[in-house]
Amino acid sequence: MKKVFLAIFISMLHLFAAATFESSQTCKTCHPIIYDEFTSSSHRNASIFNDPIHRAVWDKHPLSKEEKYTCAKCHTPTDKKLLDALESGESALPQDNKIQTTEAITCIYCHSIQDVQEHAKSNTNILTTKEKTLFSARDEEKGNSNLQYKIESSYLGLLTKKSGSPFHDIDFSNKIFYNANMCIGCHSHKQNKHDFDICKMDIESKNTDKENCISCHMPLVQGSFTTAVDSQTHRYHGFAGSGHKPQMLAQYVKLSLHKNAEGFEINIKNGANHQLLLHPLRVGELQVNIIRNKKAMSLAPVKFMRIIGKDGKPTMPWLADTVLEDSHIKANETRKIKFSEKLHSGDVVEVRLGHYSVNPKAVKMLGLEQYNDLTKFTLFKKESFMIK
Ligand code: HEC
Ligand code: HEC
Ligand code: HEC
Ligand code: HEC
Ligand code: HEC
Repeated sequence: MKKVFLAIFISMLHLFAAATFESSQTCKTCHPIIYDEFTSSSHRNASIFNDPIHRAVWDKHPLSKEEKYTCAKCHTPTDKKLLDALESGESALPQDNKIQTTEAITCIYCHSIQDVQEHAKSNTNILTTKEKTLFSARDEEKGNSNLQYKIESSYLGLLTKKSGSPFHDIDFSNKIFYNANMCIGCHSHKQNKHDFDICKMDIESKNTDKENCISCHMPLVQGSFTTAVDSQTHRYHGFAGSGHKPQMLAQYVKLSLHKNAEGFEINIKNGANHQLLLHPLRVGELQVNIIRNKKAMSLAPVKFMRIIGKDGKPTMPWLADTVLEDSHIKANETRKIKFSEKLHSGDVVEVRLGHYSVNPKAVKMLGLEQYNDLTKFTLFKKESFMIK
């Protein structure tokens, strides 16, 4: 009898494990620094409950009336209940619960991505079915597909050496954790009903093991990756991006000024292997001020954007079938922008490059006027040039 109960109990545990993902709170115990960074990341906050911009677009989206939150595939892939409802054609709207508000894209979700399947509409992440086996990258362990917890003792138990994690096994052999292709299940592209790419990364020079999404967006920063060992550094889990600590990425873009007979030229060299701004709502802006005799003179700002639409008019993403305009700075491009003002010796030229997360022309229509923090100009990089 006891055995039967035990069997039921174990199978229930199993069911429970399959119905939800392990909470990132569990990981916090042994990975507190990474957890803290993750808390402010756009991944943790990707649901409509934490991201007002995502909510605003969702509220206007026709699928919202149809009660089909298909965005879950990338924005809240941890919400299995919602994804199941979507699959079986039932009403599938995000509910104000813990998964949506604190577990949108989590530790265990990312570290379970075994492979990425490519599709025209959008790619699909394939997760491992092995319970409690997490993927990770460590150069010295590349060949080790199953690091298990081990306590070795020597000198009659006086010295013990621990390796592995008491909570999970680690598979270090998955190459998409080295070349960062584990990111492109969600980030590569997305098509609408009209087979039109609403966004596309167009990664020109492919991710390499040395320079890729991880090396740029998750640089090594101070602090150990776990309390159990002192590793000194860990990968930044706040995910530097246009909306969070963009300064961390400023080194990949170079600004320079060249004076010539007609005026001057500002060169923007994009060192990223993708278009500088990616989301269709974004608008980049270059601001130039000339300071002469202590007076500042602002030149007309230059904008970078991709406008999508239909029949020659801008539309919402789900209606669009053509690109009307695309002035974004492409992967590895050096954009040269000419100005016809003649510079004088002693002038200081202040150059500021940044962006608006939401195209200022769409703020009112999306009802985002009260979110000034999210819609104001965000500075990415600035440089001053002294004219000889
Ligand atoms: C294939 C994966 C995928 C799907 C499906 C998806 N998104 Fe996204 N979404 C992303 C990624 C990746 C980003 C971040 C892109 C960036 O910052 O350039 C994003 C960002 C956004 C943003 C910008 C958020 C911000 O804070 O600026 C909005 C708005 C958005 N998505 C709306 C939606 C809506 C609405 C749906 C469902 C109808 C949806 N997305 C479905 C992958 C997806
Ligand atoms: C968006 C995907 C993503 C999320 C979310 C995520 N990670 Fe990671 N994590 C990675 C990638 C990619 C790496 C770098 C490759 C590697 O070492 O696995 C990494 C590295 C790590 C490492 C080891 C290497 C180091 O030096 O930092 C640990 C430990 C880790 N993550 C734990 C966590 C924990 C705990 C959370 C949640 C609080 C988390 N991760 C959330 C993708 C993610
Ligand atoms: C009881 C403590 C504990 C818990 C809970 C825990 N981990 Fe770990 N984790 C460790 C230890 C210890 C290591 C280092 C093992 C080693 O270096 O031998 C580790 C290593 C890792 C690594 C690989 C680091 C590398 O070197 O690349 C990842 C990824 C990771 N953990 C993710 C997670 C995630 C995600 C969770 C939550 C689902 C989690 N951990 C929960 C203790 C824990
Ligand atoms: C050489 C460094 C580098 C590499 C490699 C790189 N990025 Fe970026 N990424 C940047 C820079 C620089 C920006 C611009 C930030 C800004 O303008 O505020 C950026 C911006 C972004 C943004 C925000 C775009 C927006 O419209 O808000 C996302 C999302 C992003 N990168 C994802 C990725 C992914 C996924 C990969 C791998 C396929 C990747 N990046 C590879 C440097 C890099
Ligand atoms: C499960 C899908 C998924 C995976 C896997 C994923 N992302 Fe994201 N990522 C998103 C979504 C969705 C957003 C936008 C969230 C929002 O703002 O609402 C986003 C946002 C971002 C941003 C923008 C942050 C900002 O402040 O502008 C960066 C940078 C980024 N991701 C990098 C990465 C990198 C690097 C990886 C791989 C290590 C990765 N992502 C893996 C779905 C994903």
